[in-house]
Amino acid sequence: MARVLVAATGGVAAIKVPHLLRLLRAAGHEVRVLATPRALEFVTPLSLAVAAGGEVATEEAWFRPDGRALHIELARFADVVLVAPATADALAKAALGLADDLLSATLLAGAKRVAWAPAMNQAMWLAPQTQAHVERLKALGHAVFGPAYGPLAAVGEGEGWGRMLEPEELVERLHAFLTPKDLQGLRLLVSAGPTREYLDPVRFLSNPSSGRMGYAVAEAARDRGAEVVLVTGPTCLPDPWGVEVVRVESALEMRDRLRERYPWAQGVVMAAAVADYRPAEVLAEKEPKVEAERTLRLVPNPDILKELGQEKGDKVLVGFAMETGEGLERAKGKLWRKNLDLIVLNWVNREGVGFGSPENEVVLLLKDGRILELPRMSKRQVADRILDFVKEFWQA
Ligand code: PMT
Repeated sequence: MARVLVAATGGVAAIKVPHLLRLLRAAGHEVRVLATPRALEFVTPLSLAVAAGGEVATEEAWFRPDGRALHIELARFADVVLVAPATADALAKAALGLADDLLSATLLAGAKRVAWAPAMNQAMWLAPQTQAHVERLKALGHAVFGPAYGPLAAVGEGEGWGRMLEPEELVERLHAFLTPKDLQGLRLLVSAGPTREYLDPVRFLSNPSSGRMGYAVAEAARDRGAEVVLVTGPTCLPDPWGVEVVRVESALEMRDRLRERYPWAQGVVMAAAVADYRPAEVLAEKEPKVEAERTLRLVPNPDILKELGQEKGDKVLVGFAMETGEGLERAKGKLWRKNLDLIVLNWVNREGVGFGSPENEVVLLLKDGRILELPRMSKRQVADRILDFVKEFWQA
């Protein structure tokens, strides 16, 4: 976890800063907050102080009678400065190396890492001056999160590029910014979610996969610098930023999309719960209900992972196994039959893990015979452990 200085400049999005501070603290970061005089026209010092759990650094407090200079202290404190919301003026000053206020002086006084969350009118954001300043800051190693497209604050401006990203996304982006890029250069294909096998236009066979496990793998890989394509069955999860998302419904569609991307990929993590069967016949019209028993004829779907394993080459292949009872032996069988480097065994019948839950409890079985039983942890933590092995095999 990091020591984060959140610096709010003048914009209506400053009202979201207390929420941002709370989220950062809940994620385990140590936070301090700086607010410019204009920011304090939108949000009160008291709400910032309460959310930050400490006093607000303001222009008045810059130089102290005891000789302390706040810009030096803050620059030393922060592992990262997140300027949110960031005005065009703040971006320009930092790009030019001006230092005539507390924020710009803090940034010039050796702030280690800097991230910006711009918020302004679209015309100001797209102005060549602002864009040139943004490029300059990126060249200095600063990160720029957003802005997003949406309704703009000033009356009559409609929609445009210029909204600050929501605090939840800023926390995610900051986490990614601070994560070491040990998978830089890896092209990873990830599958997630269930498939739907339609009987007619309104009825289908499926399973309770929420997509959380596969999305966690995609997000963790992205944060570690990999280029990620996520092929996902229907889920309620939002598309992860920074990942190319391909949405599919049936197993046959998932197979086609995965095979299209397979030559590109250096690694595949197959977390999708693919239906093993589909109805032999799909009706074009909704079949009316009849008061009688009926039998459904099913045909097997292709085993996608097995097919990919047959053309493995030097790619890294990771599968999952969803088991009950004699899971270990069955998972080992799948590891060999599907020609995998690693299989992740998880259980269908344990409370609070597997389908739908935020946590998982898994056993990793590696092709060299290693078996690692992991304690219950978040799916994101499981994803990182899987990716540690993807990295090992990729670099071997
Ligand atoms: O999505 P969540 O709610 O987060 O839940 C996560 C999960 C429980 C779905 C996930 O962790 C998981 O276990 N996914 C794989 C479930 C599964 O299909 O297991 P399996 O033992 O039937 O299949 C073995 C492997 O072959 C899997 O990698 C599967 O993706 C793949 N497979 C299976 C059938 C098929 N026709 N084609 C395949 O490629």
